[in-house]
Order: sequence, then structure tokens, then C-alpha cells
Amino acid sequence: MDAVSVIRAKRDRAELTDKQIDWVIDAYTRGEVADEQMSALAMAILLNGMVPREISRWTEAMIRTGVRMDFSSLPLPTSDKHSTGGVGDKTTLPLAPLVAACGAAVPQLSGRGLGHTGGTLDKLESIPGWRAALSNDEMMTVLRDTGAVICAAGDGLAPADRKLYALRDVTGTVESIPLIASSIMSKKIAEGTGALVLDVKVGTGAFMKSLDQARELARTMVGLGTAAGVNTVALLTGMSVPLGLTAGNALEVRESVEVLAGGGPADLVELTVALAREMLAAAGVSGKDPETALKDGSAMDHWRRMITAQGGDVDAPLPVAREQHVVTAPATGVLTGLDAYAVGVAAWRLGAGRARKEDPVQAGAGVEIHAKPGAEVTAGQRLLTLHTDTPERFAYALEALEGGITVDAPGTPYTPEPLILDRIAV
Ligand code: URA
Repeated sequence: MDAVSVIRAKRDRAELTDKQIDWVIDAYTRGEVADEQMSALAMAILLNGMVPREISRWTEAMIRTGVRMDFSSLPLPTSDKHSTGGVGDKTTLPLAPLVAACGAAVPQLSGRGLGHTGGTLDKLESIPGWRAALSNDEMMTVLRDTGAVICAAGDGLAPADRKLYALRDVTGTVESIPLIASSIMSKKIAEGTGALVLDVKVGTGAFMKSLDQARELARTMVGLGTAAGVNTVALLTGMSVPLGLTAGNALEVRESVEVLAGGGPADLVELTVALAREMLAAAGVSGKDPETALKDGSAMDHWRRMITAQGGDVDAPLPVAREQHVVTAPATGVLTGLDAYAVGVAAWRLGAGRARKEDPVQAGAGVEIHAKPGAEVTAGQRLLTLHTDTPERFAYALEALEGGITVDAPGTPYTPEPLILDRIAV
């Protein structure tokens, strides 16, 4: 077997054989297939696609490069959620303790932000003392004691994906349904969760810009999960407007705690409760309703225990950025557009995200939103507050917001897109 013949086959639109797939994934992980060869193959896959058999074999081959976790010793069924990434999407933070409060165990292996979408671990690290890196034993202890754990995936889980994802990120080969589906599902199947709810984001702030693309991605992932014995469903949710009223690490933690205290913005609460109900149903748990657990304080109790178990000080003040800049409404009328991608890039440029994996992030940086589309606004009224420790970034963030805010004449009708656009199950 050699890399060039595998690349040529996909370049010429042939289906890769099982043998070719198994070999190329294993050889790439061991360093025998070079990065430039794998990037050529990834580009051929992006351009020419894969049939379902190839996607499922590719996913299995990636799982086989690492360890598989096993939660069968836990007394509770496990349920996990994965979002394909959005702006202001902090749902994992309130969701994990909420689902734990309702009777399922939540092993949530999460990632860091890259580009304009935020990462769960970066957000939680703004809580003083909180640790993302846990050993397998520590992870099991937190999960057993508190019902939920959010931590970094260890190096041993689907190492082929770790290498391939980093390569795709710098070779323009992220936006491929076979490659995204196999990347996400190899990690989730290796993680060993019993049930999985996928939040497939659609819109300007998401990888999938159209509903048709998002449906295809969701169907592919639900098929892979189901075939591997994971009870998998997907919600397709809107991501053309940021979720909630904040984008940025500590800002999003603050808003998540508001949700756990029974408050928080309506869209964030709606999505959190909908995902929690799906996670519980997929795990076969019919305990407390998530809305009740947000109101009676039990979700907050689980949050406090989960964060404390990972070294976090739940009562410590969250970091606040040193400098603020207010963006005002350019005219009087109806705010009809607040583009998720523009806000995500602004938050990233303010220091909430990183351009390269090794860059540090600013805990307090980001964007606070004072008005969402549909609101009547007056010229000069506060729309956004930008936060950063490095004020030279304001101009760069404001540039990202150009064209991202639309105010139409007073009385212009505005019909919001439903937050939940579709549900895909087998
Ligand atoms: N998230 C992943 O883990 N992989 C992708 O390819 C895209 C989003």
C-alpha cells in the first residue's frame, strides 16, 4: 500500500477500499504518511466526497488509533451533547449539571475555541482554580461524585483525529461533511457515552451555512452513532444571531450561572432545556423535568459541586476586562440584524479566542449584547459593549462588526427564525 495510490484513487473519484482506509489512517497516525500527503487526500475527499461505507470505515479506523473509554461501572446511564460550534454557545456549561440534576451522568469531553467560535474549556478556565486536564481516574471520580464532568479529552482518544484536525485547520479542508462527521463521531464513540445529542448549528456563525448541508451532516452523524450502538439524535439550531447576550469566556460563564439560578436570556434557556430533555430521553431517564431543576436550585447545586471538584472557586469574582468600548445604534428603528459571524470575529479579535492553538486567551474579553434583533432602538442607544485588556484591539473588532448590525425603519416587521429548526433521529 502506498499513499500516492490512495490519493490518486480519491482524486479520480473512486471509492476507497476498506483496506486503503485502514492503512492510510494508521500509517498517518504513525507518521509513515506525511502531512503533505494527508492534506492532498483531505482535499480530494473535500472535493469528491465519500459514500456512507467509506465514512463509517474512516470513522472506525480513527477510533482504532486510540483508547476507548468505558463508563459501564457507573450506576447511572450516560448522556453527552456535542455542538458543531457557534457564537455565544455556552449551553454545555448549564446543561451538564442540569442533566445530572435530572438523573443521567454527563461525561463531557470538550475542546478549546479556534477561530471565531468559543471553546468550553477556555470559558471554564476563567473560573479561578478550575482545571481542564484530569486523569481518567479523576474524571471517573468527579463523574461518580457529582453526576457530571467537563474536561479535556486525553491524548489517547482518537489520536488520528487530533493530528488530522490540526492539519485540516491549516489546509482549508475543514468544511467537508465526511471529514467533520468522522472527526466528531470518532471522539464521541471512543468516549463511550451511551446516548448522544448533537446540536448542529446552521447559519452565518456556523460551519454549515444552509439547512440542507446541516441536515446531511446531522443524518451522517446520527447514522454513525446509531451503527456504533450510541443512541444518537440531532437538533438543527439557528446560528445566524449569537446565542444569549454574551460572547467571550468569563462573560459566558456569568450568563450560564444566571441560567442555573433560574434566569438568563430566553433563547439560551429554551435551547438548554430542549437539549436537556433530548439527552434525558436518549438515555431513557424520565426523572425531574429540566425546567423544574433550574427553578428549584438542584441544577445550581450540581454546578457548584462539579466546579469545586475540579479545583474551581465558585464564589470567587470572575475576571473583568480592563477596558470597555460601547457600540451605539446608528439610527432609530428596528434592529433587524446582528450577525453571529461578525460578533464572533469581534470577540475573537478582542482576545477571547486564539489564532493558533498555542496562543493564550483573555478571560475577560468579549462582546456583551444589549439588544437582540426585533428590538426597537433609538439612535445613540447602547447596542454592544466590547471588553478587552488590550484597547488597541478595539479598532480591529469594530472593523469586524462593520455590516454586521442592521437597523431598518421604525415599524419594519421582524419575524425571528425559530431557534430549533429540525430534529433528526433514525
Ligand atoms: N468539530 C470537530 O471536532 N471536528 C470537525 O471537523 C469540526 C468540528
